[in-house]
Amino acid sequence: MCAAGVWFPEIRRRAARASRPVAESARQASRTRLCARLRGVKTIIEPFRIKSVEPLRQTSREERERLLEEAGYNLFLIEARNILIDLLTDSGTSAMSTAQWAAMMRGDESYAGSESFFRLKKVVQELTGFRHVIPTHQGRAAERILFGVMCRPGQSVPNNTHFDTTRANVEINGARAVDLPCPEAADTQARHPFKGNLDLAALERLIETEGAANVPLVMITVTNNSGGGQPVSLENIEAVKRVASRHGIPLYLDACRFAENAYFIQQREAAYAGCTPKQIAQRMFSLADGCTFSAKKDALANIGGFLCTNDDRLAEQEKDLLILTEGFPTYGGLAGRDLEAIAVGLTEVLDQDYLQYRIASTEYLGRHISERGVPIVEPPGGHAIYIDAGLMLPHIPRHQFPAQALAVELYRHAGIRSVEIGSVMFGDKAPHELLRLAIPRRVYTQSHVDYVVEAILEVNARKNQIRGLEIVSQPRFLRHFSARFRML
Ligand SMILES: Cc1ncc(COP(=O)(O)O)c(C=O)c1O
Repeated sequence: MCAAGVWFPEIRRRAARASRPVAESARQASRTRLCARLRGVKTIIEPFRIKSVEPLRQTSREERERLLEEAGYNLFLIEARNILIDLLTDSGTSAMSTAQWAAMMRGDESYAGSESFFRLKKVVQELTGFRHVIPTHQGRAAERILFGVMCRPGQSVPNNTHFDTTRANVEINGARAVDLPCPEAADTQARHPFKGNLDLAALERLIETEGAANVPLVMITVTNNSGGGQPVSLENIEAVKRVASRHGIPLYLDACRFAENAYFIQQREAAYAGCTPKQIAQRMFSLADGCTFSAKKDALANIGGFLCTNDDRLAEQEKDLLILTEGFPTYGGLAGRDLEAIAVGLTEVLDQDYLQYRIASTEYLGRHISERGVPIVEPPGGHAIYIDAGLMLPHIPRHQFPAQALAVELYRHAGIRSVEIGSVMFGDKAPHELLRLAIPRRVYTQSHVDYVVEAILEVNARKNQIRGLEIVSQPRFLRHFSARFRML
């Protein structure tokens, strides 16, 4: 295994290159031709080299057994130094580029009117077209402000699938978070290209029964994190926009992984095969009235977020709330250097070679375990592979948390940290018992992933011995972060 890793000979190009609704500029077209010429070798490699490294610490099985017990079998409560491969989240865990680090050095730390803010605003507006860009310290702060301003008790907010913080921020305002995933999403094994789509018929029904006045906004999460990291098609976003507009309801994107979603559209939606990821992202944003964004994902930054809107009146209210809890509207709880890192990351993340490597590396993990009998949410998502622990461990009932049990076993066996997305996280509302293996951006090489594959296959080989868990203590909200368990 070479240090930088050799990835993915099996990558496929699925979409027919049929129509080209957005003309490629002459420069892009010639770059594409140049890349094709240079790419005589088909292996997809990491489109970067490693300049700075962080050592990983090995632990013994006995040590991990003790650490698990001390942490109440909750992997959030284990110190990072005791984790070998950390697939807990792709959020805020990206490796930054030399360009990002360089940009941070020119961070303008002025309280008001920071130049760094105006540089970020320019990049965001060029990408999204939104009039107001309101920085926040991370995505959930944008959610809290948005729903605080827009939601009233008794109202309903539809989404393809609410992420946990999104749901909590809707519900804390007395509104109802309603998940409307497309029917194909119900079957984890179905291979539909856009399983993140929102169910249009269900949306129409909800608006009819609740009344448009009780639906303050419609939201689409791209890609659909809680639904398996599955993408949403542009056709679906356009259709949702038509329904929402007909009823005078604004459409918002939870845009955390907009670039990965754009890449999937380029690969799978024939009408956009000739477009760059940036052009596709611009089209996605152009259909929305605003967005929330966690810069910890597709801005390749370690912290940050923003809230955008085209509505002047809402923006005023949002900025008032921002000042109360986040800070002045030109820094929003962030340092000027963070704003710079986000601005550069938003550009880098749309690079074709980066996105090809990114999606191929996730698929590599998924394919290598699914081909050996581990049931995953099909097809592989953008930022993570989701093992269907309900299918893999049918001997563990839901109330004994099969995905949590699998997470514990994977750590015990190989020091790998993953996260449960099932009944621990969502209680009775969980549609599936999933174990998410989220891939940090630009962090791990192919040999790290090969290690993860081997560990999962070894655990799978003796899966019948894995036991369930019961909860010993839990907080009122978002219990997965701090609940404690006992092995059964
Ligand atoms: C789809 C989605 N929305 C919102 C958030 C919240 O963002 P943050 O962690 O920056 O608060 C996340 C975080 O993982 C997410 O995946």
